[in-house]
Amino acid sequence: MTSEANSAQAEWWNAAGEGWANAQDVVGLVLQPFQDTLVARATQRPRTRVLDVGCGTGAVTRGIAEATNAECTGVDIAESMLKAAVQRGGAEYIRADAQVHTFDRQFDLVVSRFGVMFFDDTTAAFRNLLKATTPGGELCFVTWRTSDENPFMATGSKAAARYFPDAPPPDPDGPGPNRLADPDKTRRILEEAGWTNVAIEPLDRTCTMPENLLTTYLSNLGPIARAMKEAEDPGKVMKEVRSAFDGFVHGDEVRIPGACWQVTASAPL
Ligand SMILES: C[S@@+](CC[C@H](N)C(=O)[O-])C[C@H]1O[C@@H](n2cnc3c(N)ncnc32)[C@H](O)[C@@H]1O
Repeated sequence: MTSEANSAQAEWWNAAGEGWANAQDVVGLVLQPFQDTLVARATQRPRTRVLDVGCGTGAVTRGIAEATNAECTGVDIAESMLKAAVQRGGAEYIRADAQVHTFDRQFDLVVSRFGVMFFDDTTAAFRNLLKATTPGGELCFVTWRTSDENPFMATGSKAAARYFPDAPPPDPDGPGPNRLADPDKTRRILEEAGWTNVAIEPLDRTCTMPENLLTTYLSNLGPIARAMKEAEDPGKVMKEVRSAFDGFVHGDEVRIPGACWQVTASAPL
């Protein structure tokens, strides 16, 4: 089920999934604008079967299932993520490595919200997803632009760096949230994998949450959550880093500028 190549990612996401599941309501709130983008795409025309890749706790899968008459399937490599998705239901969920899994049917729309940047071999993964798409079917995913264009992300990494002084700098070509930040590279990968009509458009949205949920968000997701997990006194970590995020707080609301790409492509007829 998990290819040798992606087993480290499976392990990583399985550990991270606990936090995502704990905080899934606030994550859903923060990332809602990108769910809306994918739901809007799904409702543009009738769909029969939709696949959500790296579906995590299943918010987008459920959102599309509710908005369309399509049969919706979420695929994710991490058991902890899928457990949360299955608990909420609303769609079918498969635990598998999307890079290598042989899907037993084809989908006329393949979507992903931030779930396609973690493959060992991205071209092989998109080739595999093309096999799972009907001729003329569509791909639509949302992916982060650079960390510099996403100041909340950069603030988290910078604040957490003091707790991981020996960590190597992130490899821009390795699995990670900004892996598909370069649109030329993304286009090359998709075309090499066999997709056509590749279109890559900037997608800028302001993500929000109530201020009183900010610490829940930070302590369950991303680099601050990791620093807290490894600390003897997690509360101390939060006290030390929380003020770095003050610039995102506007009264009782947190506003996070999200700089992404919306990537679409077609399966050849
Ligand atoms: C940033 S999370 C996004 C989750 C979800 N799409 C959302 O927006 O809430 C990335 C997801 O991709 C999944 N993932 C990573 N590598 C994968 C692979 N090879 N096959 C399937 N899922 C994978 C992770 O387990 C994780 O749930």
